[in-house]
Amino acid sequence: METVVSGIRSTGNLHLGNYFGALKNFVKMQEENNCYFFIADYHSLTTYPTPENLHNSVKSVLAEYLAAGIDPEKSAVFLQSDVPEIPELYLLLNMNSYVGELERTTSFKDKVRTQPNNVNAGLLTYPVLMAADILIHRAHKVPVGKDQEQNLEMARKFAKRFNHMYKVDFFREPQPYNFGADLVKVPGLDGSGKMGKTAGNGIYLIDEDKAIRKKVMRAVTDSGPVEPNSPVTEPVQNLFTLMELVSSEDTISFFKEKYAQCEIRYGDLKKQLAEDIINFVKPVRERIIEVSKDTEYLGKVAEQGAEKARESASKTLQEVRRIIGFRKF
Ligand code: TRP
Repeated sequence: METVVSGIRSTGNLHLGNYFGALKNFVKMQEENNCYFFIADYHSLTTYPTPENLHNSVKSVLAEYLAAGIDPEKSAVFLQSDVPEIPELYLLLNMNSYVGELERTTSFKDKVRTQPNNVNAGLLTYPVLMAADILIHRAHKVPVGKDQEQNLEMARKFAKRFNHMYKVDFFREPQPYNFGADLVKVPGLDGSGKMGKTAGNGIYLIDEDKAIRKKVMRAVTDSGPVEPNSPVTEPVQNLFTLMELVSSEDTISFFKEKYAQCEIRYGDLKKQLAEDIINFVKPVRERIIEVSKDTEYLGKVAEQGAEKARESASKTLQEVRRIIGFRKF
């Protein structure tokens, strides 16, 4: 069994893009791998949440992951801040990461450009902390989106550098987890691009039925096909793509046929799509609400997860300390 580590940003609620783009694959991944799923709450401090916001967002992310099918009996589900071995490894890795290479990462350069008045050292060393998250479990694989590829590359670099420096073959070089054909891009409702946090473009797992109907009914379309079998424009294709995720084969072919015949009424398509999204989201939303109320359960999950994570983390750290030369007299 391979070890997989995945960090979850604790900002914002999860939307269908997160679910079909990643979470659904995580649920599958945990069946065949030794997974460590954690909430990257230390990482979130680079943006200065208030204590209330920090706590609440960690709680809601945890509840949402559990509601969506992450199973704490199969995976280690924990908070980064509950595993002190992570910041210790981070400190050690920092000694062998160079300011120059950290300054050259695209995410850091973006921050320098977008928030020149707050270029904190935590942002600079973000990839080192992320490498510590991964290397502390000597992970084989990490599921990463495009935006995180460079961070994973850095983790490999730090692993190699450590091995080279101490002439050991200790850290594994973590590889990207490849979802292959399972990887889907979920479009937003605003006509172009992915579902994201942009207002109105996404449907959240916590959205009420009414909100879902309203968002879908407002989705961007076009003025309709002009002749039989005319090509489908991006906004309309996006609605079909969403249908592929939540609707039945019959529904999809019904509307595709209507489109091909130039008889489609986007209002009808949207109504059906909204109901099919609701059918999918409703049970998840209800579980989120239920789980969020059960703070005792959430506490137990986090505690059990931290225990599992620390078991693996402390083994690694002990070895690392020994290799570096921290030894008892
Ligand atoms: N940087 C990741 C993101 O923004 C979150 C993250 C932190 C992570 N530590 C990680 C992801 C370790 C994978 C492995 O999405």
